Amino acid sequence: MRKSFTVAAAIVALALAPAGTALSQSALSPGGSTNRERLLMDMGWRFAFGHATDPARDFDPSPGGNNNYFAKAGNSVGAAALDFDDRTWRTVNLPHDWAVELAFDSKGAASHGSKALGRSFPENSVGWYRKSFTIPNFDLGKKISIEFDGVFRDSTVWVNGFYLGEESSGYASFSYDITDYLNYGGNNVIAVRVDASLEEGWFYEGAGIYRHVWLTKTAPLHVGHWGTFVTTDVKNNSAEVTARATIVNEGTNEAAFSIGQTILNAEGRPFARQLARELSLKAGAKGDFTNMLPLSNPKLWSPETPYLYKLVTTVSSGGEVVDQYETPFGIRTIRFDANEGFFLNGQRVELKGLCVHQDHAGVGVAMPDELNVWRLGLLKKMGANAIRTTHSQPAPEFLDDCDRLGLMVMDETRRVGINAAQLAGLESMMRRDRNHPSVVIWSLGNEEFGIEGNARGARIMQTMQTYGQSLDATRRFTVAISGGWGQGSSLSIDVMGFNYYNHGDTDRYHAQFPQQASVGTEDGSTFGTRGVYFADNAHQHAPAYDASRPAAPTPAERTWTHYAPRPYVSGYFVWAGFDYRGEPGPNFTWPAIGAQFGVHDLCGFPKDLFYYYQCWWQDQPVLHLFPHWNWPGKEGEEINVFCDSNCEEVELFLNGQSQGRKTVKTNSVLSWPVKYAPGTLLARGYKKGAEILTNQIVTTGEPAAVQMTPHKTSIQADGTDLAIIAVQANDGQGRAVPTATSEIAFAITGPGKIIGVGNGDPSSHEADQYVARVAAPAVNWRMVAVNGVENRPEVAFDFDDSAWQAGLGAAGGRRGAPAAAPAATNVYRGLFELADTKDTTVSLMLRDLGEQQWIYLNGQPVAQNVARDSAGHQFDFAPGALRTGKNVIAIVATPLAGGGRGRGGQAGQGRGTPAVVRAVTAAGGWKRSLFNGLAEVIVQSTGQPGEITLTATSASLAPAVLKIQAQDGSPPATRIYFDNDTHVNTTPTR
Ligand code: GAL
Repeated sequence: MRKSFTVAAAIVALALAPAGTALSQSALSPGGSTNRERLLMDMGWRFAFGHATDPARDFDPSPGGNNNYFAKAGNSVGAAALDFDDRTWRTVNLPHDWAVELAFDSKGAASHGSKALGRSFPENSVGWYRKSFTIPNFDLGKKISIEFDGVFRDSTVWVNGFYLGEESSGYASFSYDITDYLNYGGNNVIAVRVDASLEEGWFYEGAGIYRHVWLTKTAPLHVGHWGTFVTTDVKNNSAEVTARATIVNEGTNEAAFSIGQTILNAEGRPFARQLARELSLKAGAKGDFTNMLPLSNPKLWSPETPYLYKLVTTVSSGGEVVDQYETPFGIRTIRFDANEGFFLNGQRVELKGLCVHQDHAGVGVAMPDELNVWRLGLLKKMGANAIRTTHSQPAPEFLDDCDRLGLMVMDETRRVGINAAQLAGLESMMRRDRNHPSVVIWSLGNEEFGIEGNARGARIMQTMQTYGQSLDATRRFTVAISGGWGQGSSLSIDVMGFNYYNHGDTDRYHAQFPQQASVGTEDGSTFGTRGVYFADNAHQHAPAYDASRPAAPTPAERTWTHYAPRPYVSGYFVWAGFDYRGEPGPNFTWPAIGAQFGVHDLCGFPKDLFYYYQCWWQDQPVLHLFPHWNWPGKEGEEINVFCDSNCEEVELFLNGQSQGRKTVKTNSVLSWPVKYAPGTLLARGYKKGAEILTNQIVTTGEPAAVQMTPHKTSIQADGTDLAIIAVQANDGQGRAVPTATSEIAFAITGPGKIIGVGNGDPSSHEADQYVARVAAPAVNWRMVAVNGVENRPEVAFDFDDSAWQAGLGAAGGRRGAPAAAPAATNVYRGLFELADTKDTTVSLMLRDLGEQQWIYLNGQPVAQNVARDSAGHQFDFAPGALRTGKNVIAIVATPLAGGGRGRGGQAGQGRGTPAVVRAVTAAGGWKRSLFNGLAEVIVQSTGQPGEITLTATSASLAPAVLKIQAQDGSPPATRIYFDNDTHVNTTPTR
């Protein structure tokens, strides 16, 4: 809950800059230094599957034992423990979605993309992540927190074996204070258990740490988490900026301080500044401090001119700057009017929006930032000016992008209700997102069938809205209502949300409730498969025509024609911007594994529908013909040729013969029945009688060559930037073949890696990712004391060890010697099974067994005289030495001087086995079939500069080679990379 705070004895001195004049740079930061660092923690995590029902497979070494995950502070067991041996785990970078790696399974939830995930698949539904990082000694005294942008879902987090907390929501951003638990000057481990057994929505939601993780360091006296709130009041060419900062004193003494608030323009020049001096906060207290900053001639934020200012909040104490916190913001006015709709900066603006889920081909919900930027760009190009983040709050970086690109956002909370869990979800969304100029309205939910038409719904919405209003009085609230209009939630919600105009009568509603503003929260639901023009039930493909589709009750043309002439509605949000995984129904079923409502397919390839919106949502001339013109066997048959155009007239020609000149009716699509003959369909578009545009489609030949087209040819060598590459097959004359289905194989060299492939087929069960399988085969260890290390018969493959001591430690336990103290020279024998040795690399990860060690596999020497090493040792077995079925490792080890790590303390709890074994089975090469002529491959920087070469080959087609330059440059301002012991300072915050 928000805490209001009165500053006792604070004297607020104002140092006003002349309104609208730039200040000198030195006015910004008197001390110049700041203790704040924000480090990206995405690189170098370890990942392994746990288990939702079997504790032994969930790295719990002693279920029911005295110690567990929560019994004693800092003494968590299993994979939560600091010294757990995670060397057999896979290395992953974030964002990571393990659901996208899983196989499709008809028993998996269709709503969630038919992946082998959920309660029927306990072995795939819990994932563990661990990351090691060092914290230097000189950080002692700072406040340090770990912040997760989003984890799907039900995450439990530990640092160094200390339990930090749980977050059940898969959409919330959350953070934990880890200051007191850290090893300063040493190694630290974050462990995260993620349980995606349960679902939250009715669409694909992924699994894992699928958004960024950040480490934040501040002085004890600092701006709080999401601790600023900037609002603006615009009047006659000037704006008054209200800058509220929540300051937290986590020091042990009362702190005296001042707060400087400076506004920088988009070029980084300071424009207005205020100083509040002689403030104080008792130890452990926090307070809200408000400054007003006038600005003359502000540049207003809008989709056309997304101008961003930045507020820099500087906290100074004892003559030093102790914290500096940046809040990007925009200046704009918004107003929802009951009769005239939505106004931005005093002008009526139709919200031309799209609903978007957050998954993409190849990567699932683990969307690198650049992919989101690219997707948003596609929607802008179509003429959209707004996004509804269905049905959850997005990644925070998504809103940064909307601010920058100029897209207005309806920001939606996932959980509807009035108790702590639901209101906390609403509050954290609003606190996190309320400085974004792009966010113009909050949504309290979607189609809550159980409550939208009844009195309970009215009460619940009222309570949520009142709560929300206490957090932000500058924006209004809506909820997407699919029925019961005029009753229930529609009676209490501030802005009525029509979910599909045909679910009622918007005119009658407006007449009945003339004081209530409204918006089409979701509408224009068309479905169809990109590039498909005849139904194909076997593949669950539907023609991608919008025209009079009976099963789609609100196709694009009818919907836009409904809203366009009704100014009282503020515009609407199309369902949906992109195809998404899951929810094939109600129109499709297995083998379909995805929804087909998108204006784009899952890869972002536009469907023909894209051009309908482009015609009527923006001003550039458009002329788009469809279907394609490759119909062998249909010669002489009539095919309807459609044309999306905003020209005044269009004339269509087939092979030079006019098919007629037609007048374009506003908001409509033209069509001609044309008797099919191969050749060229040509359209000429006219305005005021003059030809302004032509376009043509041509019958192509057979596929002859692969072509790749990247969205950019140069990427940052920063480990995150990427190129999205469209792959097509061309005929002998270099023309894209719209029906090509060739399978394309990809190979890559240089500092780039493929992170996903797709083709937009909503029924394709091809893999999106080719990920090596990493397993830790169970090893049955036995041990015996011997005299001497030479010529030991016990190392032989078939030596009988049945009388030896068995049960050495728990699998996957902590690092350190086994429970039995190695006081003598010992021989350890470990038996493990390999189902198949094909493409498999097996490694032994040794612990401190003795001062000197001799290693054998299946009786053959692997390493001699290996000295003890605190980091352990890794031995990769020669592939030829491995056997399918039984394998035997033998280790001869001299006694440990002074005992091994992991002995003593812990009462033997979780103490390790002599060694662990990791088996890595290589994934097949990356490949994907073209679907209706297209596929997509996403290539990401590995962090080094240089030239990346991507090769695409296909049987009987000429290959394509693409060069992408990974440029060493300054990383984007808000992206700082942190990998174990690399520390980079930064200041950006939000
Ligand atoms: C809507 C719903 C969306 C999606 C869509 C499919 O009613 O709000 O989330 O399910 O139907 O048609």
